[in-house]
Amino acid sequence: MNTQNQILQVDGLTKTYGKGGNRTEALKGITFTVLEGEFLGIMGASGSGKTTLLNCIATMLRPTSGKIVLQGRDISGFRGSALADYRGKEIGYLFQDFELLDNLTARENITLPLALHGVTAEKAEADMEALAAMLDIAGTLDKFPSQLSGGQKQRVAAARALIGNPSIVLADEPTGALDSKNSKILMDKLSAINRGQGKTIMMVTHDAGAASYCSRILFIQDGGIFHELRRNMQTETTAMFYERIVAVMAQLGGGSANVL
Ligand SMILES: Nc1ncnc2c1ncn2[C@@H]1O[C@H](COP(=O)(O)OP(=O)(O)O)[C@@H](O)[C@H]1O
Ligand SMILES: [Mg+2]
Repeated sequence: MNTQNQILQVDGLTKTYGKGGNRTEALKGITFTVLEGEFLGIMGASGSGKTTLLNCIATMLRPTSGKIVLQGRDISGFRGSALADYRGKEIGYLFQDFELLDNLTARENITLPLALHGVTAEKAEADMEALAAMLDIAGTLDKFPSQLSGGQKQRVAAARALIGNPSIVLADEPTGALDSKNSKILMDKLSAINRGQGKTIMMVTHDAGAASYCSRILFIQDGGIFHELRRNMQTETTAMFYERIVAVMAQLGGGSANVL
């Protein structure tokens, strides 16, 4: 029996862009829940609605219909400062292209969200040092993004996403701009943070290698859930899970959705 708490509920979520002939139904009624401490992967072809889904959860997009409940609170009702608080405190966001501010040092990039939410400099510094050690970026803190490798930039961005101790970290193709070595380093770190701190992570990825670190994967096709894989965290290695992910990806690519 699973006794973990539900942290996120997505219920009948739809999102339609545009009007008339320009209408695109990006999400067509997606329903799922995420448990506290899960490392959930979202996979699916380009254009299947993955970013739209993350952006609705992050409140960067307003859904057309359906409900998103985080930590028991329906987020559709948030306005003004409640919305800013939700974005700033409950959600950490990791982007494919890092989105670091070029004229701030790594240290300043990481602590900026805390400064915006009134956390004292001493606490921000202590939290930042702990995260920097964990993410192996302690030596880069006084450098500017242009002086960092892609892998270092993404680990700085990860520290920024984590520093406010958000309820959930949303990551949209976080390894998409990294080489395989840096992808593995990032995934090892995210996995350690997921397991060590019980941090809930929801990660969109194209990459079966990155996805193999997840505890569960939802495969999205044409704005709906097409398949789900659960990893047995006790007995199944990333290499074993990788094989199962690749098999589903082959089915997705071949368009034979009905056989699964
Ligand atoms: N701002 C937008 N305006 C109109 N259509 C959009 C917009 N953003 C995404 N779409 C469309 O919605 C669908 C899903 O897009 P997206 O969520 O970005 O998919 P994914 O992240 O899986 O590649 C695609 O058909 C895309 O073209
Ligand atoms: Mg996308």
